[in-house]
Parts: sequence; C-alpha cells; structure tokens
Amino acid sequence: MWRQWPGVKPAQERADLIAYLRTLSDHPLPLPQRAKEAPAGPRYGGLPAGEGREAVYFTCRACHSLDQFTGHHLSREGWDELLDEMIAMNGMAAPEPWARELMLDYLGAYFGEREDRDWAGLPPGPGREEVYYSCSACHSLMMVTQQGLSRDRWDETLDWMVEEQGMDEISDLALRDLILDYLSTHFGSG
Ligand code: HEC
Ligand code: HEC
Repeated sequence: MWRQWPGVKPAQERADLIAYLRTLSDHPLPLPQRAKEAPAGPRYGGLPAGEGREAVYFTCRACHSLDQFTGHHLSREGWDELLDEMIAMNGMAAPEPWARELMLDYLGAYFGEREDRDWAGLPPGPGREEVYYSCSACHSLMMVTQQGLSRDRWDETLDWMVEEQGMDEISDLALRDLILDYLSTHFGSG
C-alpha cells in the first residue's frame, strides 16, 4: 500500500520501486531499454536496433512487407489498437502477453508519435484517459497506481472519495464502470 512509501516521488524513485517489485515476480517482463549501438549482424530489414526488433520483424513480416507499417507513426496505444485490428480482422495470431508488450514498447519507441504522452505512467487500455482526468485532480496518480484492490474495493474507495474526500460523484454509470474496469484490471488484487 502506498502509505508504506510515504516519500516516493515520480521518475527515479518510481523506477527504483518498479525495479524492486520486478525482483518479486517469478516472470518479470523485460524492461524497455534504450537503443544500443547497432551490433554487427542481422539487419532485420533495416528496422532500427532495439529491444523487440526481432519480435516485430518475425511477427509482422509474416503476411506483408515491413513497408506496410514503417511509414506509420502511432502512439503506443495506437499500436495497441492496431494489433487488435490485425488479430480481429487480418488473422494474425494473438501474441503471448510478454511478446505483445515487447512489440508495443518497440513500436511505440521507434514508430511512435512525437507528442506521445505517457499519461503519468498509467498503462494503456480502455479507461486510461478517464482515470487520468478523474483521479489526478486532487492527488498524484501514484496514490492510485500503488494500490492493488479488487473491483469491489475500488468501488468502495470511489464511494469514500466522494463521501469523505470531496470528489464529484461519477453519475454516468457507464463511465464509472469503465473506470472501475480499468482500475481493477491494472491495479487489481491478483
Ligand atoms: C496474419 C497476417 C498479418 C500479420 C501477422 C500482420 N499483419 Fe498487418 N496487415 C495484414 C493485412 C491482411 C493487412 C491489410 C493489407 C491491405 O489492406 O493491403 C494489414 C495491414 C497493416 C497495416 C496498414 C493498416 C492500415 O492503416 O490500413 C499496418 C500498419 C500493419 N498491417 C501493421 C502490422 C504490424 C505492426 C504487424 C506485426 C505486429 C502486422 N501488421 C502483422 C495482415 C497481417
Ligand atoms: C476531490 C479530490 C479527489 C479526487 C478527484 C480523487 N481523490 Fe483520491 N483521495 C483524495 C483525498 C483527499 C485522499 C486522502 C489523502 C490522504 O489520506 O493523504 C485520497 C486518497 C486516495 C486513495 C488512498 C486510499 C487509502 O486507503 O489510503 C486512493 C487509492 C485514491 N484516493 C484513489 C482515487 C481514484 C482512483 C480517483 C479517481 C477515480 C481519485 N482518488 C480521485 C481526494 C480525491
């Protein structure tokens, strides 16, 4: 719970915290890395060197040339949607979650939008913008992202935020559901 790290500030301390939390996981995801000097060796169709290049090369070249996407510049979220489209409409096999993350990190970093924003570190997914705008008004999103609560407990937390902490009630039930889905998906108790 966030109270155990009262002084944690964004950026470096958060990175340290994440690095520490990764050591607790049996299957830590690879952290995104900065581009290294291009090593001698395979050039993967001219794709820029970086973590995830091979995964993108072998996955995306299976059906069409790399030119099909190297001219695109999308946010990481845009690439996320594009992958959904590729799976739903074009018969691409859904990648393993870790491979998907790897490819999205790569595509977002090397074929990203210049004005791509990181939404204060909130992971992409339906509801991210809504959570960002509803929850960053009074306190840092760190207060949110350090929690791990079930959907019911998030529901109670929102009630408490409204009754005791002065948050406006979210009267649009669909919006409230979207926010609760997002919170329990990304900051759940699992
Ligand atoms: C199983 C086949 C398959 C795989 C794998 C695949 N694609 Fe595609 N992709 C397609 C087809 C089919 C089209 C539509 C081609 C057309 O309209 O000419 C397409 C079109 C695209 C487009 C153009 C979409 C637009 O805006 O119109 C992009 C960008 C793209 N793919 C990116 C990717 C990336 C990135 C990957 C790897 C993560 C990938 N594709 C993997 C089949 C695939
Ligand atoms: C109107 C202001 C306001 C808004 C908007 C707001 N909060 Fe809060 N929140 C607070 C206050 C005040 C606290 C108590 C801070 C403290 O104890 O230091 C708090 C505390 C929290 C806590 C810590 C609860 C605990 O058990 O310690 C969480 C989690 C939280 N908010 C989540 C959210 C989420 C999720 C949203 C968006 C849906 C949100 N907040 C929006 C005012 C707000």
